[in-house]
Amino acid sequence: MHLEYIQPVFRPPSEARSLILQVTNGCSWNRCSFCDMYTQPQKKFRPKSLELIEQELRQLAESGQHYRRIFLADGDAMSLSFRRLQSIMQLIQRYLPGTQRVSSYCLPRNLLNKTSAELTRLNAMGLSLMYVGCETGDDVLLQKINKGETFASSLVALNSIRDAGMKSSVMILNGLGGSRYSEQHAAHSAQLMNLAQPDYLATLVVSFYQGEERFQQAFGGDFVALQPAQLFNEMRLLLQQLELHKTIFRSDHASNYLVLKGVLGRDKEKLLNQVEQAIQQNPSIRLREEWQRSL
Ligand SMILES: C[S@@+](CC[C@H](N)C(=O)[O-])C[C@H]1O[C@@H](n2cnc3c(N)ncnc32)[C@H](O)[C@@H]1O
Ligand code: SF4
Repeated sequence: MHLEYIQPVFRPPSEARSLILQVTNGCSWNRCSFCDMYTQPQKKFRPKSLELIEQELRQLAESGQHYRRIFLADGDAMSLSFRRLQSIMQLIQRYLPGTQRVSSYCLPRNLLNKTSAELTRLNAMGLSLMYVGCETGDDVLLQKINKGETFASSLVALNSIRDAGMKSSVMILNGLGGSRYSEQHAAHSAQLMNLAQPDYLATLVVSFYQGEERFQQAFGGDFVALQPAQLFNEMRLLLQQLELHKTIFRSDHASNYLVLKGVLGRDKEKLLNQVEQAIQQNPSIRLREEWQRSL
């Protein structure tokens, strides 16, 4: 059976086979200068009513379909209050009791109005994976992209996710600082990850399919986009400085030229070697062509 979505709907690549349950429309912040995902008029932020969510879950249960995993869409379902999230998790438990994992996008500040006991309770109910778009650990860049977060706020959120027993999956944007801020972007992002030790880390290449203008304006005019070879250089800097103990690392999102997969620290040398080969333009390393890339 098909649910009625207000399109477009986005989900992480790892949720390809999950049930996408839209519990809000759009993003409560919607002001990051690089992100066009929820800027169309029909995507204005609005929580979906519990009645409608229950109706959809009931229909799914009646259709007899089973889902191991559910992703709560849209842009930051964790902006909902604890009470609302608890009610949604109760409905999932009632109608789809076989669900093993529920996940959501999460801005660091979405957690500020939830106590650690509340987050622990949500985790116990199955809400156990948070996708956090840190994008960078660099405070100058965080301000330039209008993320509304800092190195410190990101770290507090990642720690509270861990303290609640949940897992975290962090997104970092390769190329976000352009050539001028590339080194500090890599260094501070690595520092943030080393302190947070997320369970998953994904890098995406910042891409502007609807034009660079909005981003450039907020940035202050000194953004010079990185060429693929410079993106690989930045990736090398990031990997070199990452000191992770057991983080699943992926750069397999469709925006990447170079696909990397491994567990850090174990595979650090192997991944660095692949990046090195890409920098040396070794033909054995396959890169995605421009037309193969998308968001
Ligand atoms: C749909 S957003 C939701 C994440 C959540 N709202 C947050 O900010 O933590 C998922 C991620 O897509 C990535 N993204 C958004 N716009 C992008 C762009 N123009 N280029 C590359 N990645 C982008 C960012 O990493 C962002 O965190
Ligand atoms: S990156 Fe996340 S918080 Fe920022 S506008 Fe996009 S969806 Fe909203």
